[in-house]
Amino acid sequence: MIRHFLRDDDVTPAEQREILELALAFRRDRHVRTPLAGPRSVAVIFDKPTLRTQVSFTTGIAELGGYPLLVDGNLAKIGARESISDVAKVLGRQVSAIVWRTFHQSALEEMAAICGVPVVNALTDDFHPCQVLADLSTLAEHWGGVDRLAGKTLAYVGDAANNMAHSYLLAGATAGLHVRIGGPGGYQPAGDIVKAASRIAAATGGSVTVTEDAVAAVTGADAVATDTWVSMGREEEYEQRSRPFIPFRLDAALLSKAAPNALVLHCLPAYRGQEITAEVIDGPQSVVWDEAEYRLHAQKALLTFLLDRSAAAA
Ligand code: NVA
Repeated sequence: MIRHFLRDDDVTPAEQREILELALAFRRDRHVRTPLAGPRSVAVIFDKPTLRTQVSFTTGIAELGGYPLLVDGNLAKIGARESISDVAKVLGRQVSAIVWRTFHQSALEEMAAICGVPVVNALTDDFHPCQVLADLSTLAEHWGGVDRLAGKTLAYVGDAANNMAHSYLLAGATAGLHVRIGGPGGYQPAGDIVKAASRIAAATGGSVTVTEDAVAAVTGADAVATDTWVSMGREEEYEQRSRPFIPFRLDAALLSKAAPNALVLHCLPAYRGQEITAEVIDGPQSVVWDEAEYRLHAQKALLTFLLDRSAAAA
């Protein structure tokens, strides 16, 4: 069976631990595994803007011994110029894996169903699972190991209906974290994702809390995360979105409710003075630069895992 990573719960808790351990190993030695030596190509496709994801995947694929084949989604126009299924058949005959940032989760699912090679979600409207693998790796390193994640509390405040909130729910529950999501009414996570995360948490010893109270979300948390209030593709909603999110701004006062020395996460790009203040993101509790570096290590670990498992099943 070909293994894909379309959403955070495509891996079991044990598999997630394996990927996180490997991410920490890649941080110590960038060449500890080279599963793409040959080199084998990986297509990396972007239908939305990118910086970290493009740099970390292309660098990571090269470090795994492979060739990163960057595809500009605006030229390829997958799903418009030609069907997803035709593109899937063509790519599947040429590359060893496909990394795709696009809008609809269903497009990614269609690609995965047809192409015959591992497909990785490099961000959709619904999930950003590679980012949260990087976040969990960062927390694990700062807390002294992957086995220190379970039982800790991770709070996320801001746009609770976006891809980051959904990925924190699923990936955090998989890691056995107590996940608290705080966002204003009208910007709450999808019910089916909350249910799925709660089911996972029941098995891992974690828990899931969704609230409209920023202080309740953050109080006592071991890590606090936020994200832009205006995700890619929602730019025209900028005005209407500014006001309801103001109580969820991660500033020093809100952070002071968290546990002493709570770690601060932000997937970037960050808008200082909007969802987070400069004092917090540039302050001593922020681990955002480690988090950005861990995109590289976590994605290398993920690709290694998917290629290993898919080859073993072939
Ligand atoms: N929620 C943000 C994440 C950016 C990495 C977006 O989708 O634009």
